[in-house]
Amino acid sequence: LEDLLGAGVKGRHVLVRSDLNVPLDGQTITDDGRVRAALPTIRRLAEAGAKVLVTAHLGRPKGEPEPKYSLAPVAARLGELLGSPVELAGDVVGEHAKALAGSLAAGQVALLENVRFDPRETSKDAAERAELAGELAALAGEGAAFVSDGFGVVHRKQASVYEVARELPAYAGGLVLAELEVLGRLTGEPARPYAVVLGGSKVSDKLAVIEALLPKVDKLLVGGGMCFTFLAAKGYGVGGSLLEAEMVDTCERLIADAGDKLVLPVDVIAADAFAADANTRTVPVDAIEEGWMGLDIGPDSVRAFAGALSEAATVFWNGPMGVFEMALFAEGTRGVAEAIADSPAFSVVGGGDSAAAVRVLGLPEDGFSHISTGGGASLEYLEGKELPGVSVLQQGSE
Ligand code: 3PG
Repeated sequence: LEDLLGAGVKGRHVLVRSDLNVPLDGQTITDDGRVRAALPTIRRLAEAGAKVLVTAHLGRPKGEPEPKYSLAPVAARLGELLGSPVELAGDVVGEHAKALAGSLAAGQVALLENVRFDPRETSKDAAERAELAGELAALAGEGAAFVSDGFGVVHRKQASVYEVARELPAYAGGLVLAELEVLGRLTGEPARPYAVVLGGSKVSDKLAVIEALLPKVDKLLVGGGMCFTFLAAKGYGVGGSLLEAEMVDTCERLIADAGDKLVLPVDVIAADAFAADANTRTVPVDAIEEGWMGLDIGPDSVRAFAGALSEAATVFWNGPMGVFEMALFAEGTRGVAEAIADSPAFSVVGGGDSAAAVRVLGLPEDGFSHISTGGGASLEYLEGKELPGVSVLQQGSE
């Protein structure tokens, strides 16, 4: 980004890929963290006189326009935060987008409609993706540049992330650089003890990162829906809790490999229904009855996790400890988040849901060293996988 700003962007079109994939309740953004995180790069380009054309996705529409996935609420929020309205094109690379791009004045910001409304964005066929990338680049026109700033999507080989970086002079945005710098500290020589807290619903989603992290961490604390498959592997009955039966053997092996690095909950909040007004009981993990399901970790578990975290010098946390969207099942996530925030450790919150939990539960964001905007992207980085949206920028600069 600094190179681009140094070269001068006044009056030039700059196409920016941001990750504006925010959680919505109808038309209301429930956590605007990603919009806020996208702001500095957009603002700097606009202030330098660029004609800023932002492209982004929302949700996973099936390659055609669907009103519920329109970026309209995001355009409105971006405009509020910038202090000047951001016009949304009615399409991705069609007539509206062309007219809007053509009408941009220096210093103005506009947003293209959800890029996943075009089936070529996520196509498996590289030629189709390249075609869309070419059309995105053509919107920006002669003399344009591309800034990749959507850290949350750099693990996706998609037209607006990967192929477009081959169509225009491409630069890493400030957010992408900042995220890589922080996550790099975790993969380098983290200060020890290094504790990782993982939650979220599925072990299968986290298996690769667990395998990659186990040899590197001193403690691995597992909560959230995924802990029940581990508890089942230890021989406990988990009642109606979330269980990935096909992963039980794998969890058995992980438990054996991890030894005393692995810390599992000792109690859970069990509910008789998956509902905000369910009846609940706090029970030890060996006493979850049939017909009851664990929806959060219990207070003894929070104390145990907090104890391990208080000794850590580096903490990475990904995934909520329970169904924090319902107040009855939010205390586990709140307790663990508070323990991390209270500790002087270098702490990184990775991921959409855990980052949203910090803000939705009203926890102090400054208690964490870094709150990543990338869910899948930060996990894939920690797994040591190549991030196509980053490697394409490095190739370009060689
Ligand atoms: C995310 O929410 O992690 C990013 O916006 C990427 O979204 P995706 O998983 O639908 O590609």
